[in-house]
Amino acid sequence: AMEQEDGIRQELGSLHGIPLFKSFIEGWPQVKAFQARPDDVLISTYPKSGTTWLSEIMDMIYHDGNVEKCRRDAIYNRVPFLEMKVSKDLSGIEQLEKTPSPRLVKTHLPVQLLPTSFWEKDCKIVYMARNPKDVAISYYFFHQMAKIHPDPGTKAEFLENFMAGKVAYGSWYDHVRGWWEEKQKRKILYLFYEDMKKDPRQEVQKILQFLGKELAEVTVERILHHTSFQEMKKNPAANYETMLPTLMDHSLSPFLRKGISGDWKNHFTVAQNERFNQHYQEHMAASDLHFQMEV
Ligand code: PPS
Repeated sequence: AMEQEDGIRQELGSLHGIPLFKSFIEGWPQVKAFQARPDDVLISTYPKSGTTWLSEIMDMIYHDGNVEKCRRDAIYNRVPFLEMKVSKDLSGIEQLEKTPSPRLVKTHLPVQLLPTSFWEKDCKIVYMARNPKDVAISYYFFHQMAKIHPDPGTKAEFLENFMAGKVAYGSWYDHVRGWWEEKQKRKILYLFYEDMKKDPRQEVQKILQFLGKELAEVTVERILHHTSFQEMKKNPAANYETMLPTLMDHSLSPFLRKGISGDWKNHFTVAQNERFNQHYQEHMAASDLHFQMEV
């Protein structure tokens, strides 16, 4: 019964050294060859770092704050997931080919694996990073509800795997640092989930400026309201509840779970926190990239 229930859970394969779902790896040749368009804007994140939040904000900006237009389809269809491949007709590449410009594209790929076409076409990229303690906890609950992932085991086991980079998309450290370093050379707006929690208006203004767009104050106000955690949680076009129940089981943990900074405090033991801090120090001490562990 267990096997049947968890029939779609996948062991991770390796894509150029990055742990990833085997079905995604099968689709890799098409992803690698993807032809970006100059007006594509890429939304790039390590998983559970605020992708969906940023996606809803960007789609609202693209539609001048028109709430009805942003209910036209589920967020995973409005902003297709580049490297996603579950079956023949569930493929980010197929979806993107059918999407009219200007497209918003979601990816979790580490910077070194981004299809070269995005660099060649000089596409704008918005990256969002979130502190690793909250990412780890969010990712743990996501493993339970999103059935493509391997079984996460206990929280303690999952934390070890997360620190070691033995989860889908590999090391959080490599991901956030890789994109941070790329920012020196490219058109990348690098945002933080914690800043978005603290002052969403300021972060939305940064996005508008980066996109070269101006919106009326009342429109910005509408965007902020529509993309708040409470609004998104009850919006079927944003909360993933329309996803196939075989892929996601919201009764185990909702996709929009808590939406706060510092929830890790409710889950880490004192010993786990000490160990995590030490590991974090070892990996981040040499970097000028800094995270707020709570706001
Ligand atoms: S995924 O599957 O990688 O695309 O997930 P992602 O969207 O990156 O991350 C999901 C977490 O983001 C939280 N979230 C929000 N927080 C605050 N405000 C808004 N509007 C919002 N929308 C999504 C979501 O609740 C997940 O975090 P946790 O900590 O699990 O609640």
